Amino acid sequence: MKFDIKKLSIEEKVTLLTGKEWWRLDSLDGKLPELEMHDGPHGCRRVIYTMENGKIVSRERFSSTAMPSLAVVANTWNTELARLDGETIADEFVEYGKDVLLGPGVNIKRTPLCGRNFEYFSEDPYLSGTMGRAFIEGAESRGVSACVKHYCANNREYDRDYQSSEVDERTLREIYLTPFELALEGKPGCLMTSYNPINGIYASENEYLMNILRNEFGFGGVVMSDWYGVRESGRAHRAGLDVEMPFRTDAYGQVMRAYEAGELSIETIDAEVTRLVELMEKARESRRNGSVKRTHEQRHEIAREIAEEGIVLLKNEDGILPLKSGKIHVSGSGAKSPAIGGGGSSTIQTDYEIRHLGDEIKDILGDAVTILTEKSIFRTNGKVVAGNRVPYTAYDADTVVLSFGTDATIEFEDADRTSLRLPKSMEDIIVETADVNENVVIVLYSGSAIDVSPWIDRVKALLYIGYGGEGIQEATARVLCGKVSPSGKLAETFPMCLEDTPTGSYRGNGFVDRYTEGVFVGYRYYDSYKKNVRFPFGFGLSYAEFEYSDMTVKKHSETDYTVSFTVTNKSDITAKEVAELYVKDVFSAVSRPEKELKGFAKIELAPGESKRVELKLAERAFAYYSVFQKKWYVENGAFEILVGSSSRDIRLKARVDISLPASEQVTFVVH
Ligand code: BGC
Repeated sequence: MKFDIKKLSIEEKVTLLTGKEWWRLDSLDGKLPELEMHDGPHGCRRVIYTMENGKIVSRERFSSTAMPSLAVVANTWNTELARLDGETIADEFVEYGKDVLLGPGVNIKRTPLCGRNFEYFSEDPYLSGTMGRAFIEGAESRGVSACVKHYCANNREYDRDYQSSEVDERTLREIYLTPFELALEGKPGCLMTSYNPINGIYASENEYLMNILRNEFGFGGVVMSDWYGVRESGRAHRAGLDVEMPFRTDAYGQVMRAYEAGELSIETIDAEVTRLVELMEKARESRRNGSVKRTHEQRHEIAREIAEEGIVLLKNEDGILPLKSGKIHVSGSGAKSPAIGGGGSSTIQTDYEIRHLGDEIKDILGDAVTILTEKSIFRTNGKVVAGNRVPYTAYDADTVVLSFGTDATIEFEDADRTSLRLPKSMEDIIVETADVNENVVIVLYSGSAIDVSPWIDRVKALLYIGYGGEGIQEATARVLCGKVSPSGKLAETFPMCLEDTPTGSYRGNGFVDRYTEGVFVGYRYYDSYKKNVRFPFGFGLSYAEFEYSDMTVKKHSETDYTVSFTVTNKSDITAKEVAELYVKDVFSAVSRPEKELKGFAKIELAPGESKRVELKLAERAFAYYSVFQKKWYVENGAFEILVGSSSRDIRLKARVDISLPASEQVTFVVH
């Protein structure tokens, strides 16, 4: 740090700790460099607020590149693309002179009802943290500070400002803190606390969680509050919050009072000021040296590429896809304008003209197809306003492509869904269309899992596109027409119905949300309790076929291994496959999930090509968090190493026996 903070008065220091207006830090009349932050994580969200006395008096919006939602990025299982996503968004930040990107969110999808799931990666901590780390590395490589959020256990929107997440320590460590721990390896400049209390104490004022962050995870960056997520500013700063956002008229007085009362030491204030000044100096350097790397057209192409790889083919009977020729009826609310993002602070306004899906298909297949559309009867907010004329035009088609989903009026920040089903009108159209045409293909957009049971058996194919950003129609058409083979896999289980999920329709009582399911979240729950699911975690079909063979597990030490295997493309098209690595603790003195994801790789294979995949397993892959020992602990015994194409399609299996010295063992499982 170049600036000497001794030059600042206590009044100036407290001014810095309490933010300026909506997006900025106070430069103290030019003594410090300017710094401006913006949302993230789906593009550079340029909404400019003018504030007077802590109140917003006007708002202006500008357009940017609308990238796919993080849920779609996760479905790519491609860390290179997550890195490219962060880098591309940051490039736009550089262009517009913005310094801090408020994202990514690495909260766990504990329930598919959470209204903000589209902003998060996965139900699995390893996948969430790994993709988060890559996104952060991408953003930071452009000199823009990423801000990982929301720390932590913010897993539903219902009553998020008040309801406490009551989580036992082992679950907190294994499920809810792990994604942050991994993401922090990407060295983000900032971290944002969540709105909710955790075990009764607000995240922004929670010393226990701040200690883990600073002392165990070694985070040296800036901790900021979520917007108006502080109750008492003196208490928050005492706990280690560096800056409260946005500016709030009471904040300055609360911090000053705590300082004058001796509750908040000058050492703590100086440490917080130092971290903020360092962040501001980094921003100044980046503004000086930063240069824009990509054009808007190039960013759009990247948005399209990520959307494409995030598309998951969930069903494909009789090889109906890829589309080849004939009369193709294309309609549904998403044919004209699919939801490209969910609602709330991550919404990106784009100037990009999104075309009808039928036109995109026509561009690819040309004279081989005649496109029939039924454009006039849908509104974009998910409700059908006119009578259902789809079956009428669909009757004469060889194939019917219907694009439906839940949009930002259903999935948005600040509220949760109450159902996993599509609006009834959409379900009706699908079934009535299937009554007159047996070749129905559904293109589905949503931010989280959908209960497809009323219609899935009536349709031939289902292509899940999530909220794919501004390139989604081109991406969807390319996959539908086989320009590229689908290679996304679900980062979140699609359950049979809401009642089958670990938390069902429970949402807490407004005061407390008990995490009674413990570590059994997502597939950890479905697998351990042997529940049927509609589409399992890690599942996704391809137009190609892959064979797994020749697994070897090389031991380096009791807890370090290299797992290798071969994947072969048995088809005559180039395609990508995600290979997944799970570990199962066969016997344990604590209840452990059936298996847990500990590694993955995305590989591209030409027709007939084989590639060797190598994945490492280290101590943490075998450990659980031992509450009494206050550490991660590996228990001796047998572990199964499972390699598969999805969590329920395990192709290769091996066994390792861990035998650490008896002096390090505390449990009494007999081996
Ligand atoms: C959201 C944050 C966001 C902030 C600023 C809050 O409501 O929870 O994720 O970064 O607003 O827009």
